[in-house]
Amino acid sequence: IDQWDIQYAEGPDYESLKRAADELVNTDTPVAFPTETVYGLGADATRSSAVKAIFAAKGRPADNPLIVHVHSLPQLRALLSGRLDKSEEILQAEQDPIPGIYRPLIERFWPGPLTIILPAPESSVLAPEVTAGLPTFGARMPRSILALSLLRLCGRPLAGPSANASTRPSPTAAEHVFDDLQGRIQTIVDGGPCEVGVESTVVDGLSSPPTVLRPGGVTIDQLRQCPGWENVVVGYKDKQEGGASKPRAPGMKYRHYSPKAEVILFEAGAGRPSIEETNAKKAIGIIRTTSWEPALSLDSAAAERNGDSNGTLQHQNTSTTTTTTPSRLSNLLRSVVQHQVPHAHHHESESSDIWDIGLGVGTGDVARGLFSALRELDKKGVDTIFVEGIDDTTGDDIAAAVMNRLRKAAEIRI
Ligand code: TXA
Ligand code: MG
Repeated sequence: IDQWDIQYAEGPDYESLKRAADELVNTDTPVAFPTETVYGLGADATRSSAVKAIFAAKGRPADNPLIVHVHSLPQLRALLSGRLDKSEEILQAEQDPIPGIYRPLIERFWPGPLTIILPAPESSVLAPEVTAGLPTFGARMPRSILALSLLRLCGRPLAGPSANASTRPSPTAAEHVFDDLQGRIQTIVDGGPCEVGVESTVVDGLSSPPTVLRPGGVTIDQLRQCPGWENVVVGYKDKQEGGASKPRAPGMKYRHYSPKAEVILFEAGAGRPSIEETNAKKAIGIIRTTSWEPALSLDSAAAERNGDSNGTLQHQNTSTTTTTTPSRLSNLLRSVVQHQVPHAHHHESESSDIWDIGLGVGTGDVARGLFSALRELDKKGVDTIFVEGIDDTTGDDIAAAVMNRLRKAAEIRI
């Protein structure tokens, strides 16, 4: 990945990306762009005025630092050395400013869904708002071709949190960004639904032992296979000690990943929601894997009586504000990565109005569809969302990231 490059063809996709890049370089208005994890809200990481506009558009607390996205290792090295215009020749002659502990991770997982914590450069090359006053910053090289191309066209590192309004679920499609930020930003680069669907894993290799600060697209088992990372510890907390999760203490610092509806999470192996519990609600949403038989058999039976055993397929909202034309590159990307946005099936019964989403049995499907499903159910106006949790005890898949987000979304109702 030290050598790779992107070749551009002329055409509408190039023109659109170039326009987005020009906006990033020449204005302070953030631009939303796809990555393989979730959509990011990008701004030139070197300019305070641009970075401040991210916090304003999202309504993000100023003490929550941003991730810096880079397109190459030379770009990251130049940033760490404090001068973005440093030539590759000079950089090569100098000692590598990237701490050695990260070398095996970078080789294996970059470009990809991994963010590493690095010492902040000594010069003022990074806008101070990016680090929120910390002596460190997070860096990531995404693997989305559109993200990499945009970064390359800007020639600047881009500060980029997830492109949702603060507290809302992260956006995994351009429509989600539009729903949250319309009127606040000018441009969304549309790359279709995201490949991974949950954010990057954030790791701190500067601490001893190295620590996972946020579970994400790279699993803890994958990290443990890397030299120097065998004893990586979990530095985030989404369950109370002692095995099975107890109700969480309210008053967490930030509300997170929250739809408008109340979320009730059932941990893997928990009992099914009782009919009494669900009947109390007027309109409810259900998010589950397809392997789980609907617990609400009375309602399914009612739906069947109405000749609607599969429910009504609701069409997703396809409104878009994209500037990337759906031409060759987008078509190519979509044909390579055919990810679907989950749909809600509608069942009506005497007691409740039910919107039901099956995400699929694979952990990857659950991760990809999760945020989208929460948003979809909000659009249906449900009061309560019942979510079937998945087993996150094995460590060999991204279930840990899925359950971390769900526990935060559910706050105290677990
Ligand atoms: O997949 C992702 O990481 C997406 C895409 C857009 O790249 N970005 C993302 O950014 O999720 P954001 O801002 O929503 O989450 C960044 C996380 C936060 O939990 C933040 O506190 C943490 O990274 N973070 C950033 N800089 C940090 C630092 N210096 N030390 C510790 N944590 C840091
Ligand atoms: Mg976020």
